[in-house]
Amino acid sequence: MSQEIVISGGGLWNPEYTITNEELVEAYNAWAQKYNFEHAATIEAGTEDAKPYSSAEFVAKASGIKSRFVFCKDGVLDIDRMRPAFLERGDDELSQQAEMAVNAARIAMAEAKKTGRDIDAVIVSCAYTQRSYPAIAIEVQKELGIEGFGFDMLVACSAATFALQRAYEMVAAGTAKCVLAINPELTSPQVNYRDRDSHFIFGDVATATIVEKAETCTSEHSYEIVSTKAVTSFSNNIRSNFGYTSRATDADPYSADKLFHQAGRKVFKEVCPMAAKHIGEHIAQHDLSPNDISRWWLHQANINMNTLITKQLLGRVATVAEAPIVLDRYANTASAGSLIAFNLYHKDLKKGDYGLICSFGAGYSIGSLVLKKR
Ligand SMILES: CC(C)(COP(=O)(O)OP(=O)(O)OC[C@H]1O[C@@H](n2cnc3c(N)ncnc32)[C@H](O)[C@@H]1OP(=O)(O)O)[C@@H](O)C(=O)NCCC(=O)NCCS
Repeated sequence: MSQEIVISGGGLWNPEYTITNEELVEAYNAWAQKYNFEHAATIEAGTEDAKPYSSAEFVAKASGIKSRFVFCKDGVLDIDRMRPAFLERGDDELSQQAEMAVNAARIAMAEAKKTGRDIDAVIVSCAYTQRSYPAIAIEVQKELGIEGFGFDMLVACSAATFALQRAYEMVAAGTAKCVLAINPELTSPQVNYRDRDSHFIFGDVATATIVEKAETCTSEHSYEIVSTKAVTSFSNNIRSNFGYTSRATDADPYSADKLFHQAGRKVFKEVCPMAAKHIGEHIAQHDLSPNDISRWWLHQANINMNTLITKQLLGRVATVAEAPIVLDRYANTASAGSLIAFNLYHKDLKKGDYGLICSFGAGYSIGSLVLKKR
């Protein structure tokens, strides 16, 4: 794999609706108050716990999140619903997730100066896909007039980095010339807005990236993919049990365990050292030290995780110029976080500067790419 392979364009698209911590906490607390009132007898008898109250200050301090984008705001803040109210689309209409994907893809294609005719493979990779088949990627392929092939893949928080790794390998192997890797992270339908510990974590967004050979790249800003590295290690600490077999069990297909849930403290303690070790080993493969990395485009789950990881690597906390944080505006967007940071903060890098994209989270899964500005 000696040929130079590059990222030649990125796209970031966010939905028009936002929900601030204050709005979210107000709705959650109103729901909790109503719940506790309606369950006063059992709570009083000690047979169930009262629902605890949330706080916007806690959320900002514990996570760094202040606001999030949502594809559909209707229903989320309605205390009698507490989930988005999507309109079901017909089979002949573009699905919601494909719509998000296409929006981000068009921006990435413009950045990379590509049309649908230049692209021959589409990967849609994210934490959840809206349906099992036909693949969202094939729907996107049709919408953008792309010939070749497309497929979906799921790797939770590392879906975006793992897709870029597959794109890199496909171009290197010659099975595709120009790959469009897209991450339509439609997380809000899987958020348990009735769970105080996780109701604030996620937002919706889509990112897209073009990967091709250096010889076909004509874009203004491009990055050599110096190398990629991935690791997974099974953990139940971040889990969603919803799946196509839900219908075949007698359990409630919409119960709390079927939605996102986590042991947040354990995740924090276990994933940070894993990610720091992984990154340190990856850059060392190129005789680079952490101080040689000009930009850290890190996963965006929690600001304190990023602080700890860069501190372990650099021996000091990275500045926001070195390791940008987008959590305040976007929240955790599953796999898209590191690519939001990339999309917003890469154009100032100079030729020869190194940058690192890294995701870490559910699975556990960690994926990284060492990039060099061309
Ligand atoms: C989720 C996370 C932000 C919670 O932060 P934390 O400081 O670990 O919070 P804890 O759940 O331990 O709770 C700390 C205290 O705040 C309280 N608390 C938790 N959620 C709260 C909320 N929404 N509002 C107010 N208080 C809250 C807890 O009850 C607890 O109180 P106690 O000390 O009296 O028991 C944190 O664990 C985390 O970021 N983990 C990383 C993993 C992650 O985000 N993964 C996402 C998927 S990749």
